[in-house]
Amino acid sequence: MTGLKEILVSQDELKQKVKELGTAISQDYEGQELVLVGILKGGAVFMSDLMREITLPVGIDYMAVSSYGASATSSGVITIKKDIDTDIRGQHVLLIEDLIDTGQTLQHLRDLFLMREAASVRICTILSKPSRRLVDVPIDYCGIEIPDEFVVGYGLDYAEQFRNLPEVWVVKTGEE
Ligand code: IMP
Ligand code: MG
Repeated sequence: MTGLKEILVSQDELKQKVKELGTAISQDYEGQELVLVGILKGGAVFMSDLMREITLPVGIDYMAVSSYGASATSSGVITIKKDIDTDIRGQHVLLIEDLIDTGQTLQHLRDLFLMREAASVRICTILSKPSRRLVDVPIDYCGIEIPDEFVVGYGLDYAEQFRNLPEVWVVKTGEE
């Protein structure tokens, strides 16, 4: 049975970081047409908080991807389960993610949007595990760096559970 061990990032810390990111994004994209693309399902919570801290008019859309193929282990290949409906050609795209782990998902998505001829593609994540990185994907807006622990809450799940927790928690493993 999987339970929760401890809070790693509090609600206040998340709130503060989201505010900072929103301010930075609002300054950087002043006068430009920006489309936020949230990565479902995990990125939905961060996306909804972040968009309200951005003071520019923005378009929003969502994409659902799966980083695993038929096998249970990460293959580094992503499958698109739901695509955006916006024509992003010539638009500035900001991809909004909950957590960057190996970096493979975002590397693929970045390449995909560049191939679709977005004017620019940047990446914004609320959490990052730098020690787990396998590919060198540029993170333009990074919230909080965390250690290599399995975490849930603020959109992140363990077997579809815990997404609605307002804080980020470390999961208790079997032996603990
Ligand atoms: P990657 O960067 O391609 O390896 O994939 C990152 C995705 O894996 C994240 O968006 C999460 O959906 C999932 N993931 C990675 N680490 C965790 C974790 O600690 N808890 C929950 N989901 C995670
Ligand atoms: Mg995710």
